[in-house]
Amino acid sequence: MKTSVKIGVVLLAVIACSATNGMGQGRRVMVGDSQGWRAGTNYTNWAIQNSPFYINDSHVFKYPPPGKLNASPMSVYLMPDLWSFTTCDFKTAKLVGNPTEGSGEGLVVQLNRPQPYYFASADGNGYDCIAGLTKFVATPMN
Ligand SMILES: *[C@@H]1O[C@H](CO)[C@@H](O)[C@H](O)[C@H]1NC(C)=O
Ligand SMILES: *[C@@H]1O[C@H](CO)[C@@H](O)[C@H](O)[C@H]1NC(C)=O
Repeated sequence: MKTSVKIGVVLLAVIACSATNGMGQGRRVMVGDSQGWRAGTNYTNWAIQNSPFYINDSHVFKYPPPGKLNASPMSVYLMPDLWSFTTCDFKTAKLVGNPTEGSGEGLVVQLNRPQPYYFASADGNGYDCIAGLTKFVATPMN
């Protein structure tokens, strides 16, 4: 039963994706799949497994608002370059998703330029970022 439900969900996702293709809209890519955007998680693996990404794909970040279940507020930052991404220097980073924007349908970021997008969360005062977690690079192709 469970397996057939999963297959059904995958088929629906494939149909939904192909329906949006050819309209310049790109795909909707759920960051972290069903796990969403979480603290203390290695998203480099996820990014490798889900590459390539394409221009106009939308990355959807789902995370619960701050509360009992989520002691460390989650956020989504775009780091300006590889250096700030690597060193977790958030001073000139752009906040694209505040701690409340990941609930419901999630935070949507469209990758509309052929450049690396350096995503990171500042949760735990950047502790995860420094540990190499809850961050990834996506470079969309044409
Ligand atoms: C991306 O979207 C923009 C605006 O909708 C469109 O002009 C452009 O052709 C699209 N690019 C691709 C590669 O689909
Ligand atoms: C995350 O996964 C990547 C790819 O497997 C690996 O190279 C990297 O060392 C991992 N990082 C951490 C902090 O575990």
